[in-house]
Amino acid sequence: MQSELRMKMLDAFTKSGDEFVSGQHLADVLNCSRTAVWKHIEELRKEGFILEAVKRKGYRIIKAPEHIGVDEIRFGLQTDKLGKNIHYEESVGSTQKIASRLVLEGAPEGTIVIAEEQVAGRGRMDRSWHSPKYTGIWMSVILRPNIPPQKAPQLTLITAVAVVQAMEEAGLHPAIKWPNDILLNGKKATGILTELQADADRIQAVIIGIGINVNQKHEDYPEELQSIATSMSIEAGKPLDRAQILQHVLYHLEKLYLLYLDKGFQPIKLLWESYAITIGKKITARSISETIHGKALGITEDGVLLIEDESGKQHHIYSADIEL
Ligand code: BTN
Repeated sequence: MQSELRMKMLDAFTKSGDEFVSGQHLADVLNCSRTAVWKHIEELRKEGFILEAVKRKGYRIIKAPEHIGVDEIRFGLQTDKLGKNIHYEESVGSTQKIASRLVLEGAPEGTIVIAEEQVAGRGRMDRSWHSPKYTGIWMSVILRPNIPPQKAPQLTLITAVAVVQAMEEAGLHPAIKWPNDILLNGKKATGILTELQADADRIQAVIIGIGINVNQKHEDYPEELQSIATSMSIEAGKPLDRAQILQHVLYHLEKLYLLYLDKGFQPIKLLWESYAITIGKKITARSISETIHGKALGITEDGVLLIEDESGKQHHIYSADIEL
């Protein structure tokens, strides 16, 4: 929206306080048709405003967009390392790409890259990740653990537990679907993408990409995602504070990461299994090369999924899509 029009519209809403502003009044103020007013309202929604529309009354703003700028992230952050170095962008292709560049430039462990929007957000298996403006947490975390590269998948599982714990603090009941999907009410609310920069025997850095759907409404999703994706606010029935959720994720991630470095994967494995919906169930694991049906037995020390097929043979699953 042109900035002058936006200012006029926001002025009208500011003056009306909690009262509704009629579509006709807005049309008069903006000197445009009622259809054009509706389009401007939709643009405000896309920019992150939460608006209520009531027939014969008009519109009112329930909540202005909640930007998560550097200050909002820092204020109230209870970590020693994670998030102390913040790289913030309004709009990016993918935070993963920026984080890779920062790794090469020597960014310290704990650096996070945050964007309000990703126009080329990436998921696992070369999929795209829907990352609309002001609605979610699109973040990449740089870690530099002194572990061999084959242990890196464990960090995905640690992150999943951290996100689950942060969601529980928001009063929700998430579950984990191996390896990295966090579900609310059976629908995906978070994805985690772990990427490595490593030599043959040593990790240079791990970039953990975390995408959390926080304030999307059902209709914000493209049709093909509506039946499989959800957001924290859809499930909570109210808009949520993204900065606070982000702080909670970092807090839990730091605690679990330190526990992992100190005591190894075992305590994390137990936590992860307590949240996993896959374990003990009949599942199908589809990878590019094969499809395996069987019972999910658990995860190994390295975070690999173990499936027992009908003949009793055990399979180690490193990467696949899981169907329940
Ligand atoms: C998946 O479930 O397929 C993983 C999705 C990971 C999405 C996050 S959003 C922040 C970071 N930047 C990206 O481009 N992807 C990850």
